[in-house]
Amino acid sequence: MSKIILTGDRPTGRLHVGHYVGSLRRRVELQNSGMFDKIFIMIADAQALTDNAENPEKVRQNIVEVALDYLSCGLDPEKSTLFIQSQIPELCELSFYYMNLVTVSRLQRNPTVKSEIQMRNFEASIPVGFFTYPISQAADITAFKATTVPVGEDQLPMIEQTKEIVRKFNSVYGDTLVEPEVLLPDNKACLRLPGIDGKAKMSKSLNNCIYLSDTEEDVRKKVMSMFTDPNHLQVSDPGKVEGNPVFIYLDAFCKDGMFAEYLPEYANLDELKAHYTRGGLGDVKVKKFLNNVLQEELAPIRTKRKEWEKQIPEVYEILRKGSIAAREVASATLDDVKKSMKINYFDDNALITEQSKKYAE
Ligand code: TRP
Repeated sequence: MSKIILTGDRPTGRLHVGHYVGSLRRRVELQNSGMFDKIFIMIADAQALTDNAENPEKVRQNIVEVALDYLSCGLDPEKSTLFIQSQIPELCELSFYYMNLVTVSRLQRNPTVKSEIQMRNFEASIPVGFFTYPISQAADITAFKATTVPVGEDQLPMIEQTKEIVRKFNSVYGDTLVEPEVLLPDNKACLRLPGIDGKAKMSKSLNNCIYLSDTEEDVRKKVMSMFTDPNHLQVSDPGKVEGNPVFIYLDAFCKDGMFAEYLPEYANLDELKAHYTRGGLGDVKVKKFLNNVLQEELAPIRTKRKEWEKQIPEVYEILRKGSIAAREVASATLDDVKKSMKINYFDDNALITEQSKKYAE
């Protein structure tokens, strides 16, 4: 069976380092591993509209931001199909049929939907489109017969729901859809990178993100202002590394070789952590190191972005071509689905013969 990746992001803002370690970096590695037959990367504008219906301009503006972030991280349109969700109407058709296979109570139990409803104060009036977006996400994944969905941990319940829809569809209508597997980051720190203020999630509204497109100076300022262990007041005090955002970021980004270059007194992160825990290591020194580590990873991304920023029409052209290619694949899946559901009346000669016979008798 072919190995196919589908994943994507909502275009509600520029992508940040949480997106990067949570999924983006992995996608580029998978793309370059040559182990996949097809890779689809989707800008989920229709999904973004489910909770931004009154804000279409925000979604529209961020399409190109997300595309620039993709390209500057190394997603390569020669190897991966980059496309825009709303340009694939087949996804809506699939969603419409899948809606018959999911109950309201099942959607209400989806933990991601639950927490998002709370976050957005939707309790009293949830838009139907928002409530049902897990179903549309199942359409996104199954339309491409994706076997592998690399995402952050917060998306796990979505993939679970997709699997249920696939099983239900296949059991009712016969084997048609492919059950996907989720691919989470293997490094625990990457599962959910906290904000620079130590809050559990990096989010634009909390203003606690480091963006991939931040300047060198922005990144430095943000790192130097990062929250650490609040009880580590003096250099000599013992410090805590668990739950300390600076160390969580180091866990996510630091490679051993970086010590020789930027902090040769230590061989590796374990030694640095041991010193911090023991006491005698100041936050500023650790933050300066983290800044170097981050800059090393982000500098090439920033440089590439600058180049792509000069070629905006080409970026749209990549998305346009990608959307055409993606649509062909989704359309073939929709044909399979309609056939299995027996709503392919005009390609079904057996049906016409059968109905003719009925009246010939
Ligand atoms: N829900 C994802 C997010 O919020 C975006 C998304 C939409 C997605 N459809 C998808 C991710 C399909 C993976 C597969 O970032």
